[in-house]
Amino acid sequence: MASIELKDFYHTYDARMGKGETSSFCIENLNIKWGDGKAIALLGPSGCGKTTLLNAISGLIHPKGGSILFNGQDVTALSTKERHVAQVFQFPVVYDSMDVYGNLAFPLKNDRVPRNEIDRRVKEIAGILEIEDLLELPAGNLIPADKQKVSLGRGIIRPDTAAVLLDEPLTVIDPKLQWTLRRKLKQVQRQLGITMVYVTHDQHEALTFADIVTIMSNDGKIAQTGTPEEIHNDPYTPFVGYFIGSPGMNIMECSITSTGFDFDDFAIPIPVGLNEQTLSAGDNYQFGIRPEFVQASMESRDGWLPFTIEIVEDTGAYKITTLKAGKHKIKARIPEEMPVVENNPLWVHFPDKHIKLFQGNKRVF
Ligand SMILES: Nc1ncnc2c1ncn2[C@@H]1O[C@H](COP(=O)(O)OP(=O)(O)OP(=O)(O)O)[C@@H](O)[C@H]1O
Ligand SMILES: [Mg+2]
Repeated sequence: MASIELKDFYHTYDARMGKGETSSFCIENLNIKWGDGKAIALLGPSGCGKTTLLNAISGLIHPKGGSILFNGQDVTALSTKERHVAQVFQFPVVYDSMDVYGNLAFPLKNDRVPRNEIDRRVKEIAGILEIEDLLELPAGNLIPADKQKVSLGRGIIRPDTAAVLLDEPLTVIDPKLQWTLRRKLKQVQRQLGITMVYVTHDQHEALTFADIVTIMSNDGKIAQTGTPEEIHNDPYTPFVGYFIGSPGMNIMECSITSTGFDFDDFAIPIPVGLNEQTLSAGDNYQFGIRPEFVQASMESRDGWLPFTIEIVEDTGAYKITTLKAGKHKIKARIPEEMPVVENNPLWVHFPDKHIKLFQGNKRVF
């Protein structure tokens, strides 16, 4: 298995998209380093360039600039085959007419591995993937979840596989089986110590699968790389704060005065622990607080801020309220038993330890 590194990666598409339109999409100056044997999620909104990056790593597309390194070796000029990467796509790719055994054995047969070694390896991989009972069935007859296991099996059967790249592999899987298959992917990754890059636009999939999450923003840039916990608790930018979490982090524009944060419609003191020297009076900042950390009260409390309840969404386990004060709208997750009513007031408080502060798209606190 291999570590994967992208250095000063640059790519654009100049292919025509039809009707004279061209794609203005561009990935520029992108740098990534992912460790060997890690479960990595590449997460970002639709169209941000995830598939482009994955295809560049596998060699399906060749970047216009920069280099790709596996274990420190430059593989930019190598073909997909020479890179020894396995790719699993949205739609499972299996040889329909072959049985599952034949599908799994195929890469090893191509490599002229001895028959008894092929048999041992096919059974080992089928055991890990829990598809031993399917070995004699035509792959074309399988349900998509099992086909996807076969695609993965074919990818990991070669002992020299450098990495497994998965592009939204659960898209066509029955929702009831998605959880089981994702758990299986993770288990296989751990058991075999595979470097796995899992592309998704779904934060839940990314955070539950990965040791390391890399978030891309709409403009084809890396917004942050970190553990799921770091990404959630310490977003570097308002984009990451908002993109992660359901609902995402509340972000409000504010400025600094001698007494605290001024939001135009209300003001709060500077949180304890924030060194006032790092702030400049008059400057604009983005104030961030996650909905689950907003404290709420149905009665007025000293220092708490009056908001109006616009929407109440009851999930059964808790309520998500949309609250408004002047030009500001925030969401707060509140206990299920709180009998909140739309259009009534709700007093909120932002605990110091959960406040995040950004300026010019970067975290300052
Ligand atoms: N062959 C191509 N020619 C021209 N433009 C392309 C081509 N492939 C992708 N693009 C454009 O490049 C951008 C990034 O596409 P990409 O498929 O990498 O995004 P993605 O993050 O995988 O999106 P999704 O979540 O929808 O799969 C998009 O704007 C897309 O329209
Ligand atoms: Mg894609």
